[in-house]
Amino acid sequence: MASLEEIAGALVAPGKGILAADESSPTIAKRFASIDVESTEENRRDYRELLFSTAGAEKFISGVILFDETIRQDAADGRRLVEVLQKAGIIPGIKVDTGAKALAGASAEKVTEGLDGLRERLADYRELGARFTKWRAVITIGDGIPSDYCLETNAHALARYAALCLEAGMVPIVEPEVLMDGGHDIARCFEVTERTLTKVFAELHAQRVALEQILLKPNMVLSGKDCPQQAGAREVAEATLRCFRRTVPAAVPGVVFLSGGQSDELATAHLNEMNAIGNVPWELSFSYGRALQAPALKAWGGRSEQRAAAQGALLHRARCNGAARSASYSAEMEQAA
Ligand code: 13P
Repeated sequence: MASLEEIAGALVAPGKGILAADESSPTIAKRFASIDVESTEENRRDYRELLFSTAGAEKFISGVILFDETIRQDAADGRRLVEVLQKAGIIPGIKVDTGAKALAGASAEKVTEGLDGLRERLADYRELGARFTKWRAVITIGDGIPSDYCLETNAHALARYAALCLEAGMVPIVEPEVLMDGGHDIARCFEVTERTLTKVFAELHAQRVALEQILLKPNMVLSGKDCPQQAGAREVAEATLRCFRRTVPAAVPGVVFLSGGQSDELATAHLNEMNAIGNVPWELSFSYGRALQAPALKAWGGRSEQRAAAQGALLHRARCNGAARSASYSAEMEQAA
């Protein structure tokens, strides 16, 4: 049986990254609404089966994060979807938080729930084939926020989650996401990301989490979505790495970025730029949801005859991000497709 260090290492193997396909029921309904598809259990199954059975994806995709429904679901041919992944050599993972809820006494901020009964749920997920997990904390930038209260409660929960996952024999992906919503500039995102990561690693340490056995899933340091002065790719890459050198211990094997609403091509370009700078102690990889799936979702549009086109779109994005792992992505790769 593989050790937790080996699983973490396999998830950030050269040229590979993670596909986040763990949208909760409300989120997948929103994605489907954008292509006019009803979110039924069968449609969700068909779409995710399409993604997971993309031939050749395993060259660039090391693991897939699933949602509770999906880890229990069967493919059309009766096999479990988990088996479809395992057969392709892709490691199944599972989202285990139960969502970000209003933080009591700080209604503009959120705290992620899901600790109650987590030990038992983790045992169940491991039995179902999961070898890694994810918990997402959501940090909002605004007037006077995030508060230390919000950062500390979320960091505490992330560390409790991570400690339980290690106990259960799965690699925890620790995801503190500073949202890109807002008109703030990149310096403000830097400051908040630095504060967030400092608190997260203090809690991980306090709760005895072995950093060699986790992966960090952070936001990149970016200009706010509505900031008129958008930082370029080089500035984003430099700011992100400067922030992480200050806050992320070298023992962490890998940093797997979320895309967070960046366009698919920009998310790839940013990762490529960071790997071009390099010279950091962690693998720099991806765990993208929208930035891997958006073109495939659009190509599919709920039509079974579009299956191959959708798989082609996913494979293309996976290949581009795989190339960004070694700074060998270029704009020509997009044109060639
Ligand atoms: P995005 O890449 O779409 O941000 O999704 C990644 C994810 O898993 C967020 O929790």
